[in-house]
Amino acid sequence: MVLLEKESGYEAWLRYKLLEEGAYAARVRDWTGVLAASAEGSEVLTAAVQELERGIGGMLGIRPVRATLENGTGRPHVELGAAGQSPLIDSILGDYPKLREDGYVIRAVADREGGHCIALAGSTERGVLYAAFHFLRLLQMETPLDSLEIVEDSANKLRMINQWDNMDGSIERGYAGGSIFYKDGDFAGNRGRITDYARLLASTGINAISINNVNVHQTETLLVTEAYLSRVAETAGLFRPYGIRIFLSVNFAAPIGAGGLSTADPLEENVRRWWADRTADIYRTIPDFGGFLVKADSEFQPGPFTYGRNHVDGANMLAEALQPHGGLLIWRCFVYDCLQDWRDRSTDRAKAAYEHYTPLDGQFHGNVILQIKNGPMDFQVREPVSPLFGGMSGTNLMLEVQITQEYTGHDKDLFYLAPQWKRTIDFDTHAKGPGSTVGNMVSGEAYGRPLGGYAAVSNIGEDCNWTGHPLAQSNLYGFGRLAWNPRLSAEEIAREWTALTFGNGERVMATVSGMLMRSGRIYENYTAPLGVGWMITPALHYGPSVDGYEYSKWGTYHFADRNGLGVDRTAATGTGYTRQYHSPHFEIYESLQNCPDELLLFFHHVPYTHVLQSGQTVIQHIYDTHFAGAEQVEELIAEWNGLQGLIDEDRHARVLDRLRLQTDNAVEWRDTVNTYFYRKSGIPDAQGRTLYG
Ligand code: GCU
Repeated sequence: MVLLEKESGYEAWLRYKLLEEGAYAARVRDWTGVLAASAEGSEVLTAAVQELERGIGGMLGIRPVRATLENGTGRPHVELGAAGQSPLIDSILGDYPKLREDGYVIRAVADREGGHCIALAGSTERGVLYAAFHFLRLLQMETPLDSLEIVEDSANKLRMINQWDNMDGSIERGYAGGSIFYKDGDFAGNRGRITDYARLLASTGINAISINNVNVHQTETLLVTEAYLSRVAETAGLFRPYGIRIFLSVNFAAPIGAGGLSTADPLEENVRRWWADRTADIYRTIPDFGGFLVKADSEFQPGPFTYGRNHVDGANMLAEALQPHGGLLIWRCFVYDCLQDWRDRSTDRAKAAYEHYTPLDGQFHGNVILQIKNGPMDFQVREPVSPLFGGMSGTNLMLEVQITQEYTGHDKDLFYLAPQWKRTIDFDTHAKGPGSTVGNMVSGEAYGRPLGGYAAVSNIGEDCNWTGHPLAQSNLYGFGRLAWNPRLSAEEIAREWTALTFGNGERVMATVSGMLMRSGRIYENYTAPLGVGWMITPALHYGPSVDGYEYSKWGTYHFADRNGLGVDRTAATGTGYTRQYHSPHFEIYESLQNCPDELLLFFHHVPYTHVLQSGQTVIQHIYDTHFAGAEQVEELIAEWNGLQGLIDEDRHARVLDRLRLQTDNAVEWRDTVNTYFYRKSGIPDAQGRTLYG
């Protein structure tokens, strides 16, 4: 048996392990001994060259020679450059006049003197960097190089990560250790770690990051002031070579908290001036600053409602401050009443965002983007797609998802999220007839909007392997890949990530990607059934507590009684939420017969004896899926154990530890949920399995 080198997981998918000696390695070594790039490039081009040196060095055991374009040719080499940096690059880009910003071409060519050359041609230097990472990926996967012609670009202008890091070093909903950015109320000065994070993100195509929590506490409110700007600028400087612009989450009441004004009313002249001045300061220090991210009037964060103003007033005021500098204002739509009275059956939290924002469509400035969570509630395992994506034709939109597993297993339970994100991206809103997918809405293509994209809450922390659960790295990777190219399938990404992370042996690729692809359904099986949501331990959001939220103020109820459960959101007899969808979704969700099983309890309140499309009753479905879910975790363990010796011991053991934690969690969920519904309904399991009556 080959002894595998010990691996901590720190390198994640950028491992660059020595390729096995053979024809492929020999051929690649021949192509990559010389790296030719313009001497005039910026730090982004330098980062691309350095990454190639690192990758080629690691995989081929050579130190490629750096050359300028003048003396590099005539022998086999890799030539990299952006538009205008070399005649060869320009002639390649000339073949693709429609290539979008940051797009690139990778081509195997004979250069001017007839030598072999791999050209990495970017429409911008960021494109060159992406081409370099792509090329290294090809080598890691041992892809033949001889007739390469790869053309890539992205319809999504913003491909963004949201850090929910606080300056005390904690991370809201972080499960992989403390912040790599902050410690004890200040910047942590963790330069190497942040640079490596930037490399990981850039390798997937991420080009923007907000560096503090959307809940902006006291110290973080000051990030926009002189007190911290030089430190923010240092962080920006670490991301800049990797083509990533930084954003700050801002406190809407900062004019009061940081500026000493008596109001934050967006229509007050001194408030507007305060923001304009702060923004000018920021751009003096960080000329390529991205802009602001705002959570306003949401879960106790301040906002324009305090002053009787609406969200157009609030967002446009900040957008005007940013506009002269080319900055963007990203405004979150996660706005609902979080002090709801559970006795009040007329309020439906799911309806809130659509009701707040659709009347404002068309009124936001051109540099405002509305950031919308994938579902109408809050990152549940299963929710319908937010109808707001189909309700805004005159506004720039972004999709927000959570990479961190707040409700999906805390990086203890395995949950590969790409399939869930794909379902959202591919969902056809029918806003402009068939083909009006969420993907087309947020790219801006559907209505010819200039801006848009994807944002996700990160799952990384100080843990050595970044994500706690080694397999949770696949979610960070998967998000970046989908934000760049939403047409990729979740399975393609899973296989690619597995190959880069664990090697491209077919057995490992098939097993790990198979485990990833089944993981979401398995977690769903042993947690809240049929789209009803929550039933999770309040505040913590891990482990079962069926009635934990039932009499709370959060608007998240399942309404289980002795006869049945679910939320009636129909127009006919319920809250009328279904009306927020275009046809045919309205009719499908409205109908008890046609509503998809997995969302049934999101839309309907039904008796336990209701027969699903699957042919099973609701109560038997609950029992069956919960018993199955716990068993399937055991199957995951067996599959993983089968990879012993094919994956290095350290990472193998770490995953196994997590899978064991998952077993405990799954059993707890199974028994709690099954017992709860057995006691409520009095209906026994048709298969006579153990229930605790
Ligand atoms: C969830 C989460 C909060 C977070 C909020 C948000 O409700 O539990 O911690 O602040 O989402 O997205 O703003």
